[in-house]
Amino acid sequence: DLASPAARKLLAWYDNHARDLPWRVGPAERARGERPDPYRVWLSEIMLQQTTVAAVRAYFHTFTTRWPSVAALAAAPEDDILKAWAGLGYYSRARNLKKCAEAIVADHGGTFPQTVEGLRALPGIGEYTSSAIAAIAFDVPAPVVDGNVERVVTRLHAIETALPRAKPEVRTIVGEMLDAGRPGDFAQAMMDLGATICTPKRPACLHCPLRGDCRALATGDPERFPVKAPR
Ligand code: ADE
Repeated sequence: DLASPAARKLLAWYDNHARDLPWRVGPAERARGERPDPYRVWLSEIMLQQTTVAAVRAYFHTFTTRWPSVAALAAAPEDDILKAWAGLGYYSRARNLKKCAEAIVADHGGTFPQTVEGLRALPGIGEYTSSAIAAIAFDVPAPVVDGNVERVVTRLHAIETALPRAKPEVRTIVGEMLDAGRPGDFAQAMMDLGATICTPKRPACLHCPLRGDCRALATGDPERFPVKAPR
């Protein structure tokens, strides 16, 4: 299919340019077939909703040091979790964190479900988070579409439909790109590309692994995408 060559270029770029983030496993570990810890993937994805990577780092360290497993977090008093969460905002996330940890211990023997549907049934885990955890922790070929991915894909294909109407088309394209394999790395590569190269303003197209495939760049005005809905 046509989407896979771009996806393969993106994966090759990720092998050299992946951000070093505490919930990821490094290239050497990945080469040995090691997977990231689902608990750490889940915790990072919840923290990263509405919060930047820079702000999340310190909190992630605090939480994983104090509560190194989902069982430890499930056993913690809600008040301790809320206090440790202070400053991250959106406190319903912290309450759901405890509920979700309890459900995993009570209903799943302390191990995370490995399917999108199984994850989706847990407190605080919606469409985006279930696909992100399934892909990143278990290499399930699920399309993971956040704002970064929407920007990358609408530019790559110069999609003239405004968001959110363009979402189904973006999902379809991401689904086709998954044929290139390594769905967990692919999801994170898209996020890194959107965060570091394919930025909302002044994208660094000269450094982009997809510059030869990008139809928005070919128009000369990549920043025009994603197209804004008339208001
Ligand atoms: N934003 C949301 N999830 C992320 C991840 N796994 N890596 C980097 N940025 C992210």
